[in-house]
Amino acid sequence: MTDNQDASRAKHNYFTRLSHAGRAATHSHGFVNPPVHRGSTLLVPDIATRKASSANRFGRQLTYGVGGTPTHWPLEDVVAEIEGGTRCQIVSSGLAAVTTPLLAFLKAGDHLLMTDSAYGPTRNFCDGLLTRFGVTTTYYHPCITPEELEKLVQPNTKVVFVESPGSHTFEVQDVPGLAKVAHAHGAKVLMDNTWGIHHFQPFTHGVDVSIQALTKYVAGHSDIILGGITVNSEADWEVLRSTSSTLGQFASPDDCWLALRGVRTMAVRMERQQKSTLQVATWLSQQPEVKQVLYPALPGAPGHDIWKRDFTGACSLFGVVLQPQFSETAMHNMIESLDLFGMGASWGGYESLVLPTTGFLTRSAGSGDFGGNVMRLHVGLESPDDLIEDLREGLGVLRQG
Ligand SMILES: Cc1ncc(COP(=O)(O)O)c(C=O)c1O
Repeated sequence: MTDNQDASRAKHNYFTRLSHAGRAATHSHGFVNPPVHRGSTLLVPDIATRKASSANRFGRQLTYGVGGTPTHWPLEDVVAEIEGGTRCQIVSSGLAAVTTPLLAFLKAGDHLLMTDSAYGPTRNFCDGLLTRFGVTTTYYHPCITPEELEKLVQPNTKVVFVESPGSHTFEVQDVPGLAKVAHAHGAKVLMDNTWGIHHFQPFTHGVDVSIQALTKYVAGHSDIILGGITVNSEADWEVLRSTSSTLGQFASPDDCWLALRGVRTMAVRMERQQKSTLQVATWLSQQPEVKQVLYPALPGAPGHDIWKRDFTGACSLFGVVLQPQFSETAMHNMIESLDLFGMGASWGGYESLVLPTTGFLTRSAGSGDFGGNVMRLHVGLESPDDLIEDLREGLGVLRQG
């Protein structure tokens, strides 16, 4: 953590810090937002400077474009601020933010405990590349208790990976409890905290490495792909930074610049989206066609108690389980009939989205069966009343089968 970060955390409210974090490091000649610094080669005046810069490859010193620029650094600082950690590494995508720390903290012969609810490409990475490189993965039920998790720990377990809530089925995990078990056995806790951004402080709940798909709420406009990996200790930073650098991880400065624009309004967007989502989710939970709404912030929803204990709010992504009499085809018809909910992957933008969940999940530890077809909704910045009207008409299509 920089001295600036330290002093600011002691003195200022989170919302103030969200506006100001990173701006001291912009080198932007007084401009509020940093201009885009784009480049590969930096010329040095002499051999001594060349030697000094290659000795400081991981520092914030301009040596070569891939090491980061004054457009990357402010974004690193803001994301570290949001997550409550010390340092952040910006990478090319949310998926790279998952794979890079897995490669950093695992080696051939190690064992990984992975939540069954993990984002699909995370599972692909474990089953594919990690397996090929000699790392074994055991999937565990996302609602596992710490005691049950302990039984799955092996002498070579080096990472426990959590994603809470799961971004398709929204199981809320007992992260502090699971982290205690992991740490007792010398394993690191890696968390995909994309759903919890702004509302879940990973490092006060036992997480060692927090992963963000900045593509979602930080970017906020569905127009860039970017990831952030935050740690809270110098030792973890060394491991992460060295792997990221070895892999040649880099993000376009133009995308970082867009993310910096997005992040300054994230709190306001998320506040409005949370309010609308609660309205839409509550309405859906009262409809006879709906068996269950999977939105942890909704009283009575699965995981609500842990969410209330550990989170300060919720984002705008949730699931809807339909009553078992409605077929998958009927659900597809409903989805296709919606006017304001576009069918598309990703989330966190200003627009509402819908996706079928049933038929697109891979699970191996017994999670993911909800006794009815499931779809996922993302609530954007539209009027919640208009969204409810759209869903009301959609439920009419569902009833027709
Ligand atoms: C939970 C979660 N993690 C990671 C990612 C990957 O992010 P990106 O699309 O930036 O690669 C996604 C994308 O949908 C996601 O939902």
